[in-house]
Amino acid sequence: MKKIIAPSILSADFGNLQRDIEMINKSEAEWFHVDVMDGVFVPNISFGFPVMKPLKQHATKPLDVHLMIVQPERYVEEFAKAGADVLTVHFEASTHLHRTIQQIKQNGMKAGVAINPHTSIYGLMDVLSDIDVVCIMSVNPGFGGQKFIQQTFKKVEQLAAEIQKDKLDTLIEIDGGVTLDNCNALFDAGANVLVAGNTVFSSPNPNDTISQLLK
Ligand code: DX5
Ligand code: ZN
Repeated sequence: MKKIIAPSILSADFGNLQRDIEMINKSEAEWFHVDVMDGVFVPNISFGFPVMKPLKQHATKPLDVHLMIVQPERYVEEFAKAGADVLTVHFEASTHLHRTIQQIKQNGMKAGVAINPHTSIYGLMDVLSDIDVVCIMSVNPGFGGQKFIQQTFKKVEQLAAEIQKDKLDTLIEIDGGVTLDNCNALFDAGANVLVAGNTVFSSPNPNDTISQLLK
C-alpha cells in the first residue's frame, strides 16, 4: 500500500523558506502540502500565488495544494499555471463539485476533495470514482498544530472499504494533528498520505521525523 508523507509548508519558517523547501527535497517526504486560506471559508488567511512561485521554483517534489477558499472553481486555471500537481477543493465550498473535479483534471492536475470533520464520507459516493485524492480533515481547517479528532479513524475505515469495494485507486489523505503516536494506526486503517505540519517543522531533526512517520 502506498505511504506518503506531505509536510505542510504552513508550519515552515517563511523567513527561511528556501532552506525549508530544500530540507524537504532531501527528505523521504514525497509531496509538499500547500495550505491556501482565504479568511472566509476558514478563520485564517495564509498565502497565495506569491508563495507558490518560490515553492515551484525550488521544490523537486509534487505540490499538493489544499484550497480552503470559497468558490474554488474561480482559481483552478491559475493554480495549474502556478504549478499545482494535486488541487484539492472542499466539498463544503463547492456547489457544483462534479464540474469542479472535471475542471481540475482538464487543467492537467490530480483532483482532490477535502471533507471537514462534520462531513460524512458517504456524500462523496457519486463522485468517488472521479477523485484522485480524498482528504479527510482530522482537525477543523484553518490552523496548524491542532489536536487530532479521533472520529477520523472511523471515517478512514469507511472510506477504505468503499474504495476497495469499487476497486478504485483513490488515495486517502489525512490532514491535521498527525503525530508519531498516531501515524502507524492511520496507515493501518487505510490512509495513504499523511500531512504533517507541526510534527515535522517543530522537530529538532525534521528529516529524521519524516522517516519515523513512515516506519
Ligand atoms: C489545517 C491545514 C493543515 C495544517 C496541518 O487547516 O489544512 O494542512 O497545516 O498542520 P498540523 O500537522 O500542524 O496539524
Ligand atoms: Zn491542509
